Amino acid sequence: MLTDLFDENAVRDLDAKFAGTCQREAFYIPQHGDEDQAYFVGNSLGLQPHAARAAVDDVMFKWQTEAVEGHFNGPTQWLTYHRLVRDQLAALVGALPHEVVAMNTLTVNLHLLMASFYQPVEGRAAILVEKGAFPTDTYAVRSQIEFHGFDASLNLIEVEPDENGWFPTEHIVAAIREHGSQLALVLWPGVQYRTGQVFDMAAIAAAAHEVGAMVGFDCAHSVGNVPMNLHDSDADFAVWCHYKYVNSGPGAVAGAFVHDRHASNPSLPRLAGWWGNRQDVRFLMGPQFEPSNGAEGWQLSNPPVLALAPLRASLELFSSVGIEALRDYSRSMTDYLFTLIDTHFSDHLESVTPRDFKERGCQVSVRILAGRAKGRELFEYLQSRGVLGDWREPDVIRISPAPLYNTHMDILKLARVLREWCDGQG
Ligand SMILES: Cc1ncc(COP(=O)(O)O)c(C=O)c1O
Repeated sequence: MLTDLFDENAVRDLDAKFAGTCQREAFYIPQHGDEDQAYFVGNSLGLQPHAARAAVDDVMFKWQTEAVEGHFNGPTQWLTYHRLVRDQLAALVGALPHEVVAMNTLTVNLHLLMASFYQPVEGRAAILVEKGAFPTDTYAVRSQIEFHGFDASLNLIEVEPDENGWFPTEHIVAAIREHGSQLALVLWPGVQYRTGQVFDMAAIAAAAHEVGAMVGFDCAHSVGNVPMNLHDSDADFAVWCHYKYVNSGPGAVAGAFVHDRHASNPSLPRLAGWWGNRQDVRFLMGPQFEPSNGAEGWQLSNPPVLALAPLRASLELFSSVGIEALRDYSRSMTDYLFTLIDTHFSDHLESVTPRDFKERGCQVSVRILAGRAKGRELFEYLQSRGVLGDWREPDVIRISPAPLYNTHMDILKLARVLREWCDGQG
């Protein structure tokens, strides 16, 4: 680590070490006056890759010139457009190609997969989640429990965090064992959205299976952030979005994973649509649903090709660098940020993100010790100086240096503005 954390030349040298990994020049960086903004909000909406527009334009041109024929012409034909992202997506999440599909949006996929993997019966109808889960997860599981005619106040089991707001693996496993005989499903995040804690999905999946429950993961904050091994984790299913670290634009088409052991399991119930039908029989327009093998069998509608186009462009960037190299670079940036907080700002801020590198990705959430009002003041001060994090009630600012486009220099900019603000606090 640097001897002087504010030494601009040393920070530039550190960035130079990762020049082959960071793809900043492939992105539009929002401007603040005539400077690049220090944009740390990839945990919410990732930046636009230059290539995204060209990918969308290609679809527009194909539509303009080929109209309906575009479904069947050439390598980017729309009939199989979702397959253009399949292999790179599978590599990013650590899955076999037929285990993943890009479709719908995250919450829709969560419901669709719970329709298959949440099969409550009297005495085993409960779903276990983390207390303080992202609201859509809580709403979705509660509504699923009620949809099946069970009482959500009895069947939604929320695991309490420890005094740091974290969920140690042994704590999660103990909760699964404690409620084991009641559990139909464990739904857990890959990375917790508020604290940035990274979970051991394999350990959670093993504990859930041991008690006879299914297990699914909401990987909204994992994908594009940390290396994932969905297949080896043995999860039954997973869902995620692509507008955060995968930089595919607001409301981007989401992702879903169904483990290979369920790829062609006829006993699994599912909500079917014609696009999930096998491609070779789909256009026979028969009455019988014959699901495609694997995750594609859960598709409902023909894919929103225009919305899928930016994902193609974005996945190219991940493939060109590799998530492991991005993880190393991310570690360097977050280590720098943690050291700054510890050595210069600990009178004003504390991290609510676990310090252990294995338990965090690129998100560092900081609590403002003086409380909400001062926290808002700091958040707005940062914004006015071209440093963008995001605010989480009641007193947390999330800072997420995304290794595809952020730099140590962005963090230095944050540190300088923080220092100005702290100096002004007396
Ligand atoms: C953990 C988590 N799940 C789900 C969502 C959003 O779901 P959707 O894409 O369906 O709006 C978010 C959005 O920030 C999230 O952080």
